[in-house]
Amino acid sequence: MKKARWIALLCVIVLVATLFAGCGANNDGRRIIRIGHNQSTTHPTHIGLTAFADYINEQLGDKYKVEVYPSELLGSQTEMVQLTQTGAIDIVIASNSIMETFSSNYSIFNLPFLFSSAEAYHACMDDPAVTDPIFLATEDAGFICVTWLDAGTRNFYTLNTPINTPADLKGLKIRVQQSPTNVKMMELLGGTATPMGFGDVYTALQSAIIDGAENNELALTNNGHGDVCKYYSYDMHQMVPDLVLCNWAFLEGLDASERAIFDEGFKIINTVQRAAWEGAVEEAKNKALNEQGVEFIYPDTAPFQEAVMPLHNEVLAASPALQPIYDMIQAYNAQYAAAE
Ligand code: GCU
Repeated sequence: MKKARWIALLCVIVLVATLFAGCGANNDGRRIIRIGHNQSTTHPTHIGLTAFADYINEQLGDKYKVEVYPSELLGSQTEMVQLTQTGAIDIVIASNSIMETFSSNYSIFNLPFLFSSAEAYHACMDDPAVTDPIFLATEDAGFICVTWLDAGTRNFYTLNTPINTPADLKGLKIRVQQSPTNVKMMELLGGTATPMGFGDVYTALQSAIIDGAENNELALTNNGHGDVCKYYSYDMHQMVPDLVLCNWAFLEGLDASERAIFDEGFKIINTVQRAAWEGAVEEAKNKALNEQGVEFIYPDTAPFQEAVMPLHNEVLAASPALQPIYDMIQAYNAQYAAAE
């Protein structure tokens, strides 16, 4: 891992040097569009971004060249968002969780047990009335969110403690994403929140600096966490989307016909990633169960939900402007509650 981090650091240095030397222009005069993310090349997110790169290179290849950098090659998610703000890179995929430090509006989609079902979650994220006030409100910060990606349901997994009730989390150090809402969520559940970037989690688990983490099933397989964590507990505490964030000045600089092509490309990322996601979860589960020896646990989710519900009022009290969005989400929850 250490070697990998050094190689990643070296790549960042080389890339940043190239950026400043060439200002994003290729030798042949084409404008290079750099996209950074933190997943592997077999992950649905990379598959969606590759489809986007192919589409843009095919439609506008005389002028632009899209390059996709996986596996934190351009830095951690937080670092990549900062690079996207300044325009050093053009597009980044970031979990909604880390975005609340950039704009507090994002905290709404980090609330545990916000959605009553996957259908309600998808309907909300597909409705611009719900997402636009949040996704488009960061122009001043230098970027906007152009589409969302599925990141499934987040659940707890541990080295050697099966989690059946919140009481089982007591005394355990659990990695959470760097988000105030997630830290509070862990506190309410009785565990000790240990915020860190995604790329550091495997080593922290392997050396038992932390006792566990929380994520979707792909973290077990794609990121190898299932090699060291043997219990995965479906408490279903969050459905947190990943976001495709694009530098605002870059979007503003496109002419109308180019912008239409890019907008179509953003739709392609969403459609291709979500289609790949559907099969990937089941595949990851099978691999974790049969090859990594992970035990899947199905606890009663009600005690987890009860413990964290005060967070809903806390976030709404801190940001009253989020109330109408929260109400729209509740309408979708009612509509899709029975479908699960
Ligand atoms: C998921 C999500 C990533 C995020 C990661 C994390 O894998 O898709 O965007 O970085 O969780 O827990 O940090």
